[in-house]
Amino acid sequence: MTLTVREMTAAETDLIVEYFLHSTPEHLEMLGVDPTRFPPVASWRERLRRECALPVEHQSVVPVIWLSDDQPIGFSTSDKIVHGEQAHMHLHVIDPGRRHQGIGAECVRRSVDLYFDRLKLKRLFCEPHAFNVAPNRTLQKAGFKYLKTHMTVPGPLNFHQAVTRWVIER
Ligand SMILES: CC(C)(COP(=O)(O)OP(=O)(O)OC[C@H]1O[C@@H](n2cnc3c(N)ncnc32)[C@H](O)[C@@H]1OP(=O)(O)O)[C@@H](O)C(=O)NCCC(=O)NCCS
Repeated sequence: MTLTVREMTAAETDLIVEYFLHSTPEHLEMLGVDPTRFPPVASWRERLRRECALPVEHQSVVPVIWLSDDQPIGFSTSDKIVHGEQAHMHLHVIDPGRRHQGIGAECVRRSVDLYFDRLKLKRLFCEPHAFNVAPNRTLQKAGFKYLKTHMTVPGPLNFHQAVTRWVIER
Protein backbone atom coordinates (compact mmCIF):
# COMPACT_ATOMS: atom_id res chain seq x y z
CA MET A 1 0.00 0.00 0.00
CA THR A 2 1.52 3.32 -1.10
CA LEU A 3 0.08 6.39 0.61
CA THR A 4 0.09 9.72 -1.21
CA VAL A 5 -0.93 13.04 0.32
CA ARG A 6 -1.26 16.01 -2.02
CA GLU A 7 -3.42 19.05 -2.77
CA MET A 8 -6.73 18.18 -4.43
CA THR A 9 -7.48 19.09 -8.00
CA ALA A 10 -10.71 21.05 -8.54
CA ALA A 11 -12.37 17.94 -10.01
CA GLU A 12 -11.56 15.91 -6.89
CA THR A 13 -13.27 18.26 -4.44
CA ASP A 14 -16.70 16.66 -5.03
CA LEU A 15 -15.34 13.92 -2.77
CA ILE A 16 -15.73 16.23 0.22
CA VAL A 17 -19.34 17.12 -0.55
CA GLU A 18 -20.23 13.46 -1.23
CA TYR A 19 -18.65 12.39 2.07
CA PHE A 20 -20.82 14.73 4.10
CA LEU A 21 -23.97 14.10 2.06
CA HIS A 22 -23.61 10.32 2.47
CA SER A 23 -22.69 10.34 6.15
CA THR A 24 -25.20 8.83 8.55
CA PRO A 25 -26.87 11.08 11.14
CA GLU A 26 -24.87 9.20 13.82
CA HIS A 27 -21.57 9.92 12.07
CA LEU A 28 -22.44 13.61 11.63
CA GLU A 29 -23.40 13.78 15.33
CA MET A 30 -19.97 12.36 16.26
CA LEU A 31 -18.30 14.94 14.01
CA GLY A 32 -20.35 17.71 15.60
CA VAL A 33 -21.88 18.53 12.20
CA ASP A 34 -25.45 19.79 11.74
CA PRO A 35 -26.71 18.74 8.26
CA THR A 36 -29.28 21.56 8.25
CA ARG A 37 -26.27 23.87 7.94
CA PHE A 38 -25.04 22.32 4.67
CA PRO A 39 -24.92 24.88 1.86
CA PRO A 40 -27.00 24.18 -1.27
CA VAL A 41 -25.11 21.35 -3.02
CA ALA A 42 -24.38 23.17 -6.28
CA SER A 43 -22.89 26.23 -4.57
CA TRP A 44 -20.98 24.01 -2.12
CA ARG A 45 -19.34 22.12 -5.01
CA GLU A 46 -18.73 25.32 -6.94
CA ARG A 47 -17.09 27.07 -4.01
CA LEU A 48 -14.64 24.21 -3.38
CA ARG A 49 -13.72 24.02 -7.07
CA ARG A 50 -13.19 27.77 -7.20
CA GLU A 51 -10.87 27.67 -4.17
CA CYS A 52 -8.54 25.22 -5.95
CA ALA A 53 -8.12 27.61 -8.86
CA LEU A 54 -6.97 30.51 -6.65
CA PRO A 55 -3.33 31.32 -5.91
CA VAL A 56 -2.48 29.83 -2.52
CA GLU A 57 -2.18 33.28 -0.87
CA HIS A 58 -5.88 33.88 -1.67
CA GLN A 59 -7.28 30.45 -0.81
CA SER A 60 -9.61 30.39 2.21
CA VAL A 61 -9.73 26.58 2.05
CA VAL A 62 -6.91 24.23 1.03
CA PRO A 63 -8.29 20.75 0.29
CA VAL A 64 -5.85 17.83 0.49
CA ILE A 65 -6.52 14.30 -0.75
CA TRP A 66 -5.24 11.07 0.81
CA LEU A 67 -4.64 8.24 -1.68
CA SER A 68 -3.77 4.58 -1.26
CA ASP A 69 -2.29 3.18 -4.47
CA ASP A 70 -3.92 6.10 -6.33
CA GLN A 71 -7.39 5.43 -4.85
CA PRO A 72 -8.91 8.21 -2.70
CA ILE A 73 -9.23 7.00 0.91
CA GLY A 74 -9.49 10.23 2.84
CA PHE A 75 -9.02 13.94 2.88
CA SER A 76 -8.03 16.89 4.97
CA THR A 77 -8.94 20.53 4.61
CA SER A 78 -7.34 23.60 6.03
CA ASP A 79 -9.37 26.74 6.76
CA LYS A 80 -9.41 29.84 8.99
CA ILE A 81 -6.15 30.58 7.16
CA VAL A 82 -3.99 33.57 8.05
CA HIS A 83 -1.24 33.10 5.46
CA GLY A 84 2.22 33.17 7.05
CA GLU A 85 0.71 32.75 10.53
CA GLN A 86 -1.86 30.06 11.33
CA ALA A 87 -4.68 27.85 10.11
CA HIS A 88 -7.03 25.07 11.25
CA MET A 89 -7.16 21.56 9.79
CA HIS A 90 -9.67 18.70 9.53
CA LEU A 91 -9.14 14.97 8.98
CA HIS A 92 -11.31 12.20 7.51
CA VAL A 93 -10.77 8.60 6.38
CA ILE A 94 -13.79 8.03 4.12
CA ASP A 95 -14.48 4.31 4.46
CA PRO A 96 -15.21 3.25 8.07
CA GLY A 97 -13.58 -0.13 7.29
CA ARG A 98 -10.22 1.58 6.66
CA ARG A 99 -10.16 3.51 9.94
CA HIS A 100 -8.07 2.55 12.95
CA GLN A 101 -5.30 0.96 10.83
CA GLY A 102 -2.67 3.69 11.00
CA ILE A 103 -3.69 5.62 7.86
CA GLY A 104 -5.00 8.68 9.69
CA ALA A 105 -1.92 9.35 11.81
CA GLU A 106 0.41 9.00 8.82
CA CYS A 107 -1.74 11.13 6.49
CA VAL A 108 -2.19 13.79 9.18
CA ARG A 109 1.61 14.03 9.57
CA ARG A 110 2.01 14.49 5.83
CA SER A 111 -0.90 16.94 5.59
CA VAL A 112 0.68 19.01 8.38
CA ASP A 113 3.95 19.17 6.41
CA LEU A 114 2.05 20.26 3.32
CA TYR A 115 0.12 23.02 5.14
CA PHE A 116 3.22 24.38 6.88
CA ASP A 117 5.06 24.45 3.57
CA ARG A 118 2.31 25.90 1.34
CA LEU A 119 0.80 28.34 3.83
CA LYS A 120 4.11 29.35 5.50
CA LEU A 121 2.53 28.67 8.89
CA LYS A 122 3.86 29.22 12.38
CA ARG A 123 1.09 27.18 14.00
CA LEU A 124 -1.68 24.84 12.95
CA PHE A 125 -4.77 24.09 15.07
CA CYS A 126 -7.31 21.29 15.03
CA GLU A 127 -10.50 21.33 17.11
CA PRO A 128 -12.35 17.99 17.03
CA HIS A 129 -15.51 17.30 18.98
CA ALA A 130 -14.32 16.47 22.50
CA PHE A 131 -16.28 13.17 22.57
CA ASN A 132 -14.89 11.95 19.22
CA VAL A 133 -12.02 9.75 20.40
CA ALA A 134 -10.40 8.85 17.05
CA PRO A 135 -9.26 12.35 15.94
CA ASN A 136 -8.19 13.27 19.47
CA ARG A 137 -5.95 10.19 19.68
CA THR A 138 -4.73 10.67 16.11
CA LEU A 139 -3.73 14.30 16.61
CA GLN A 140 -1.72 13.42 19.70
CA LYS A 141 -0.01 10.60 17.82
CA ALA A 142 0.80 12.94 14.92
CA GLY A 143 2.58 15.36 17.26
CA PHE A 144 -0.10 17.91 18.17
CA LYS A 145 -0.12 19.35 21.70
CA TYR A 146 -3.33 19.57 23.72
CA LEU A 147 -4.28 23.15 24.65
CA LYS A 148 -7.78 23.11 26.17
CA THR A 149 -11.35 21.87 26.01
CA HIS A 150 -13.98 24.52 25.50
CA MET A 151 -17.52 25.15 24.21
CA THR A 152 -17.81 26.74 20.79
CA VAL A 153 -19.28 26.53 17.29
CA PRO A 154 -16.04 25.49 15.55
CA GLY A 155 -17.15 25.99 11.95
CA PRO A 156 -20.04 26.92 9.64
CA LEU A 157 -21.33 23.30 9.45
CA ASN A 158 -21.12 22.67 13.21
CA PHE A 159 -23.51 22.90 16.13
CA HIS A 160 -22.49 24.34 19.52
CA GLN A 161 -20.34 21.71 21.23
CA ALA A 162 -17.38 20.87 23.47
CA VAL A 163 -14.19 20.74 21.40
CA THR A 164 -10.59 19.99 22.26
CA ARG A 165 -8.07 22.44 20.85
CA TRP A 166 -4.79 20.94 19.63
CA VAL A 167 -1.83 22.81 18.15
CA ILE A 168 1.39 22.04 16.33
CA GLU A 169 4.02 24.79 16.06
CA ARG A 170 7.19 25.11 14.03
C1 LIG B 1 -10.04 10.53 12.74
C2 LIG B 1 -9.48 9.61 11.70
C3 LIG B 1 -9.08 10.43 10.46
C4 LIG B 1 -8.22 8.91 12.25
O1 LIG B 1 -7.71 8.06 11.27
P1 LIG B 1 -7.46 6.51 11.58
O2 LIG B 1 -6.82 5.94 10.37
O3 LIG B 1 -8.71 5.91 12.07
O4 LIG B 1 -6.41 6.64 12.79
P2 LIG B 1 -5.15 5.70 13.09
O5 LIG B 1 -5.49 4.28 12.78
O6 LIG B 1 -3.95 6.29 12.42
O7 LIG B 1 -5.02 5.84 14.66
C5 LIG B 1 -4.35 6.90 15.29
C6 LIG B 1 -4.53 6.76 16.79
O8 LIG B 1 -5.91 6.92 17.13
C7 LIG B 1 -6.40 5.76 17.79
N1 LIG B 1 -7.76 5.53 17.33
C8 LIG B 1 -8.21 5.58 16.04
N2 LIG B 1 -9.51 5.33 15.99
C9 LIG B 1 -9.90 5.11 17.27
C10 LIG B 1 -11.15 4.79 17.88
N3 LIG B 1 -12.26 4.67 17.13
N4 LIG B 1 -11.19 4.64 19.22
C11 LIG B 1 -10.08 4.77 19.97
N5 LIG B 1 -8.85 5.08 19.46
C12 LIG B 1 -8.79 5.23 18.12
C13 LIG B 1 -5.46 4.65 17.38
O9 LIG B 1 -5.48 3.59 18.32
C14 LIG B 1 -4.14 5.38 17.31
O10 LIG B 1 -3.60 5.62 18.58
P3 LIG B 1 -2.50 4.65 19.26
O11 LIG B 1 -1.58 4.22 18.17
O12 LIG B 1 -1.90 5.52 20.29
O13 LIG B 1 -3.31 3.50 19.79
C15 LIG B 1 -10.52 8.51 11.29
O14 LIG B 1 -10.77 7.66 12.40
C16 LIG B 1 -11.82 9.06 10.79
O15 LIG B 1 -11.92 9.44 9.63
N6 LIG B 1 -12.83 9.16 11.67
C17 LIG B 1 -14.10 9.67 11.25
C18 LIG B 1 -14.01 11.13 10.86
C19 LIG B 1 -13.63 11.99 12.05
O16 LIG B 1 -14.05 11.75 13.17
N7 LIG B 1 -12.90 13.08 11.75
C20 LIG B 1 -12.53 14.03 12.72
C21 LIG B 1 -13.24 15.31 12.45
S1 LIG B 1 -12.46 16.64 13.33
